[in-house]
Amino acid sequence: MLSDVLLVSAPGKVILHGEHAVVHGKVALAVALNLRTFLQLQPHSSGKVSLNLPNIGIKRAWDVARLQLLDMSFLEQGDPTVPILEKLEKLKEVADFPEDCTDHERLAVLAFLYLYLCICRKQRALPSLDIVVWSELPPGAGLGSSAAYSVCLAAALLTLCEEIPNPLKDGEASSRWTAEDLELINKWAFQGEKVIHGNPSGVDNAVSTWGGALRYQQGKISSLKRPPALKILLINTKVPRSTKALVLNVRNRLLKFPKIVAPLLTSINAISLECERVLEEMATAVPAPEHYLALEELIDMNQHHLNALGVGHTSLDQLCQVTMAHGLHSKLTGAGGGGCGITLLRPDLTGPEVEAVKQALTGCGFDCWETSIGAPGVSVHTAASLDAPVWQALDGLCAGQWASSS
Ligand code: PMV
Repeated sequence: MLSDVLLVSAPGKVILHGEHAVVHGKVALAVALNLRTFLQLQPHSSGKVSLNLPNIGIKRAWDVARLQLLDMSFLEQGDPTVPILEKLEKLKEVADFPEDCTDHERLAVLAFLYLYLCICRKQRALPSLDIVVWSELPPGAGLGSSAAYSVCLAAALLTLCEEIPNPLKDGEASSRWTAEDLELINKWAFQGEKVIHGNPSGVDNAVSTWGGALRYQQGKISSLKRPPALKILLINTKVPRSTKALVLNVRNRLLKFPKIVAPLLTSINAISLECERVLEEMATAVPAPEHYLALEELIDMNQHHLNALGVGHTSLDQLCQVTMAHGLHSKLTGAGGGGCGITLLRPDLTGPEVEAVKQALTGCGFDCWETSIGAPGVSVHTAASLDAPVWQALDGLCAGQWASSS
């Protein structure tokens, strides 16, 4: 078992094109968002295992000796890697939740305990450790924050238990695992996602593991070769929405007007395919203004289609109008009905131009991040290579006190 501190990060995701259409068997393009979740794992010998999630206010610790005494055969039921309901009920007893714990908090703790017990129980003794996870991603905004959390946990625990090697070589600031190791990380991260979401598609954890851009259709996931890292503004309208209700609305509209809605979905599919073609061309040739023009036109067309499907919102209309007033093109990303939008930033834009549009958007009450898509997937870092705010956040938090549940 490793004894050094491990620092791991994994990206969130946005859907570039294909949301809603993907539910009806069409292609979606999902891209890694360079807003990341960071995890620090500190092995020690204090006899405690602790979890600190400052973004959602969780600090918990368990006695390793008590966990060690558990009859863990329940984890073996059925397929040992699948978190079925019975296993989760047992885990809830282990977690020993306080009365006032929200569902959100419970699921994050359960995913941790599930991965910790499943991955580490093959060791001679369960390890004592402190884990701190801090994220740049807002939770519950459709940006894959839970997948990035599960990917970081899986990567760190598998590395600690030497199921996969630490790929960081002397003198390197950051490194990534081999394709085979990433497969294993993704497999476990998917189980963490199942604990949190029940029946997820697997696309969020795949994007967070591999990074870059992925094409997704009917459960089949493939990576785009060398996608360009495009700059975007990510905007959170902060208008709450229910993915489930919006997906149902689209289904009802398709049933009511099949001759009108089915061609919209076919057209969205064509937009995803054309975007994929343009991105691959940008990777092989020098990106030209025509490429950005094409990407902008695809964004506009898809946004109109999504409005026609009924998943728009006045906040998203406002977002598109404000950015259009600055000559920029935007669309909703994810379920719509509020939530988040993305704006493509062409490389010819100056710093003050970007600042002006950011100010206009924050003036509408939206949260706004200047970031990029096509970011690298799960990575391991040295402390020195992390930006000061990330390191300070993690380091400061590691010194905190733990609320003990046992
Ligand atoms: O919930 P979000 O914002 O990550 O987006 C869901 C994307 C949909 O296509 C609307 C639903 C789905 O399951 O693919």
